[in-house]
Amino acid sequence: MSSKPTVYVGMSADLVHPGHINILQKAAELGDVTIGLLTDAAIASYKRLPHMTYQQRRAVVENIKGVTAVVPQETLDYVANLRDLKPNFVVHGDDWRTGVQAQTRQRAIDALAEWGGELVEVEYTEGISSTQLNRSVKEVGTTPNVRLSRLRRLIENKPLVRILESHSGLTGLIIETATAEHEGRKVEFDGMWSSSLTDSTARGKPDIELVDLNSRLQTINDLFEVTTKPLIYDGDTGGKPEHFSYTVRSLERLGVSAVIIEDKEGLKRNSLFGTEVAQTQSSIEDFVHRIQVGKKAQITKDFMIIARIESLILEQGMEDAVTRAKAYIEGGADGIMIHSRQKSPDEVFEFCERFSNFEKKVPLVVVPTSYNTVTEEEFAKRGVNVVIYANQLMRASYKAMSSVAKSILENGRSAEVDSQIANIKEALAIIPENES
Ligand code: SPV
Ligand code: MG
Repeated sequence: MSSKPTVYVGMSADLVHPGHINILQKAAELGDVTIGLLTDAAIASYKRLPHMTYQQRRAVVENIKGVTAVVPQETLDYVANLRDLKPNFVVHGDDWRTGVQAQTRQRAIDALAEWGGELVEVEYTEGISSTQLNRSVKEVGTTPNVRLSRLRRLIENKPLVRILESHSGLTGLIIETATAEHEGRKVEFDGMWSSSLTDSTARGKPDIELVDLNSRLQTINDLFEVTTKPLIYDGDTGGKPEHFSYTVRSLERLGVSAVIIEDKEGLKRNSLFGTEVAQTQSSIEDFVHRIQVGKKAQITKDFMIIARIESLILEQGMEDAVTRAKAYIEGGADGIMIHSRQKSPDEVFEFCERFSNFEKKVPLVVVPTSYNTVTEEEFAKRGVNVVIYANQLMRASYKAMSSVAKSILENGRSAEVDSQIANIKEALAIIPENES
């Protein structure tokens, strides 16, 4: 065993740049360097899921000169690993003195004090940062494979995956770029939902599987040209099994991550109509057959076929929903979506409770359009993996556009709508090329 002092360096090492190498050189001057490589889940707890997987990042850092060992750091917090390894030094860039990591830094200092260890801070390398590199990666774009596999990685590494409806390049760009602060953390959407309702509505058509696959794929092409985030496709009933296998392959080829199909047949109507219109639920056998045809057709290992249960929508009861969920999982579904059109979340919560006791587990998806007071934290606590906001951007634009059209008619000019609409500069700025 080496008698040199021990040095601990925590890092994500997603896009390794000269700033990282500078820190590692300083660390190696002090002793034997162990890298605490943040796991995907640790990184996703405070910022975007990394571009590279843990294994890929590990393969890079363990081959950097001066690194003697690499261990996983399971949380943003260093304390557990530090107490375990009791290093003489922790080396870090001095950029963590402020912002989300300030508390992490203090906790590391306090832990080191327990055995007389020391924090050494290296001056931040100006002119290069992961944030800048991330921006460049976005400009370069993504590939179908990378985008496709991202949904599974998100589900595995985040308590809840947040998806928003998109029906045009512009809505895709909004989902790609929108950020906000929620309880002191920066948050963003993880991906897009290609909704049959909003893709149809954008074309002025009813949501009855009338918009054909090629038109739907064209919308996705428009979205994919300007975004990097993953997409879940609303596959309606999946159509005839013989057709569904082609749908699966077309979606995979583009880089779509998942298709959700619902257990209805015949003329499909939007679920939010419930029993006001005639809708027929498929037999369990027929629907399982559809899932299996899809699973057999898929080429990649990461594509997901998610089974959507309409029992609560069609007032068939909780037992029917639970029986179907078990049968669909047994039949090979990669996930379950439970749908409800009640204002109260009670029936969805009851389903979550029953679902949590299933022996065979798959991700659970909800679409809280009507029970919209439930927070994401509450869903996560009840075992939900993916929340889809299925139509809000379309509804926002419809309301705004109708009101603006009416105002122009009423006033015989457009001055009165100025306060309701984005100024031209704002509207153009979302498209990066407009600015250059
Ligand atoms: C959609 O967004 O098209 C859906 C969800 O299928 S719902 O409209 O609630 O049926
Ligand atoms: Mg739909």
